[in-house]
Amino acid sequence: MQGVLVIGATGDQGAAQVDVLRAAGWAVVAAVRQPGDPRIPPGVDSVPLDLHAPETLAPALAGVDTVFLNLPSASFNDPEWILQGFENFLKAAEKAAISRIVFNASLYVGPSETGHVAHDTRLRIIERLFASSVDATAVCPVIFMDNLLRGWALPSLRDRQVLSYPHNPDLPVSWICLSDVARIMLAVATDPAAVNRRLVVGGPEALRGEQTAAALGRAWGRPIRFESLPVAQFARQMGQLFAPDDPATAARIERDLAAVYRWYNESVPSPFTVDMREFLSRYSLELQTVETWAKAHPLSQEYIPTGGARHPQSAGQAS
Ligand SMILES: NC(=O)c1ccc[n+]([C@@H]2O[C@H](COP(=O)([O-])OP(=O)(O)OC[C@H]3O[C@@H](n4cnc5c(N)ncnc54)[C@H](OP(=O)(O)O)[C@@H]3O)[C@@H](O)[C@H]2O)c1
Repeated sequence: MQGVLVIGATGDQGAAQVDVLRAAGWAVVAAVRQPGDPRIPPGVDSVPLDLHAPETLAPALAGVDTVFLNLPSASFNDPEWILQGFENFLKAAEKAAISRIVFNASLYVGPSETGHVAHDTRLRIIERLFASSVDATAVCPVIFMDNLLRGWALPSLRDRQVLSYPHNPDLPVSWICLSDVARIMLAVATDPAAVNRRLVVGGPEALRGEQTAAALGRAWGRPIRFESLPVAQFARQMGQLFAPDDPATAARIERDLAAVYRWYNESVPSPFTVDMREFLSRYSLELQTVETWAKAHPLSQEYIPTGGARHPQSAGQAS
């Protein structure tokens, strides 16, 4: 049985990885900042770990050979703070001779810098991982189906039957669910050919907004239409949602998200569009469609938005 430490296990992405790893028979240890965190399921071992408390890292890494690494946002937090926590971890992982790190970049990361802070911070992390002495794989999921049930999309779906999202109407989007991201991380974790690979992954189909709305409508048994939310409006809402008491951070989130969403919409091909056929045949994986996922996730279910600013960015932070 292989021992795996999940960093970020209290977030919804890490939680899905804990579930998938347990189901596959791995010995899972969940990293927590607060001992006894109630978000860790009963029966799952946990260990205290804070990326900014280096003394917690060696004890947490003792006895595991694999790490599933999830990190907070570099848009909503100071990127240098994210990088410092990551460097602390990497140093400890090298010292502990961890045999594999599977990094969930949590978003699309391309081969070179784009000028978008979240993207470029993730790229730096991936480059550092690949230059390290630990075998590493970066999984870069483009956009989560699970977003549809979070605070920025759910109210409109539930109250108006409208999928309101900042996507151009003709943008094909490869939505992927969190449990499939976790299954992909598991699949690549033991594949020697995945070492030092940056894998951009999406779901099994690329749907335009009205197609996504129709799939949700079929699953939830009610008509749902698509509304292309203006990027500026979306970015403003996200700033207020994630930094309600911090106008400077809200403004920075708004600026960064507006820029990156314009890039998502205007790039050809869009970072949101992924052809998964070759990948899926290599790993014999079948991923959930939007309709299948939505059938298992009733519209009444509401997630409390997680994430947000924990360490406000310094003034003048470049985007
Ligand atoms: N592609 C998409 O569709 C999509 C959608 C949503 C989010 N994202 C991206 O996903 C990433 C994560 O977002 P999120 O909202 O899930 O993040 P989050 O909740 O802020 O943090 C994720 C995890 O990191 C842990 N963590 C935070 N600081 C830590 C530290 N110092 N030491 C150890 N663990 C620490 C958190 O633990 P605590 O619970 O203790 O805070 C949590 O488990 C971001 O980059 C975001 O942009 C992408």
